[in-house]
Amino acid sequence: MEQTLILIKPSAVIRCLIGDVISRIQHKGLIITGMKMMQLDEKICREHYAHLVDRPFFPDLVRSMTRTPIIAMVVKGLEAVRVVRDMTGATKGRNAAPGTLRGDFCMSGQENIVHASDSVENAEIEIARFFSQGEIFDYTNDSFKYLYAPDEVVFNL
Ligand code: PPS
Repeated sequence: MEQTLILIKPSAVIRCLIGDVISRIQHKGLIITGMKMMQLDEKICREHYAHLVDRPFFPDLVRSMTRTPIIAMVVKGLEAVRVVRDMTGATKGRNAAPGTLRGDFCMSGQENIVHASDSVENAEIEIARFFSQGEIFDYTNDSFKYLYAPDEVVFNL
């Protein structure tokens, strides 16, 4: 089953929105398989946002992402990468649809409260960037039989 990476950014940590993000993820039916608080530095920002290092806003992005610790999460579900991206909404909070995390909780493109992997390939790379194998837990979760039909997932309980 697919896994994806979510970062709860410093703007959400400072605004006490950690619980709101986690509760939306859990209420949707995504299973948390890894979660930790960590302090980012410029080095990991340069790696994670390598495609943006030449953009004029990059120094501000680093300042924003290193202002406080972040919460890194791995979540699991059927088509989890797309599902989480849909829940996250457009990059700029003020353009994001109501009902999405950014649409409901922020206004900004920089201070946009969460990062979510944008493809299955990038999810694998990003999960490995933030988590070691021992920090991801593939535990049995009885809720699968209430979240999915038998023809959607293989029940392994
Ligand atoms: S872009 O601009 O089309 O490449 O946008 P995108 O690939 O969706 O993500 C840009 C990430 O950079 C963060 N960021 C900013 N974007 C736009 N403008 C400004 N000023 C800016 N500052 C930071 C933005 O939050 C996106 O981060 P992630 O974590 O990927 O959502």
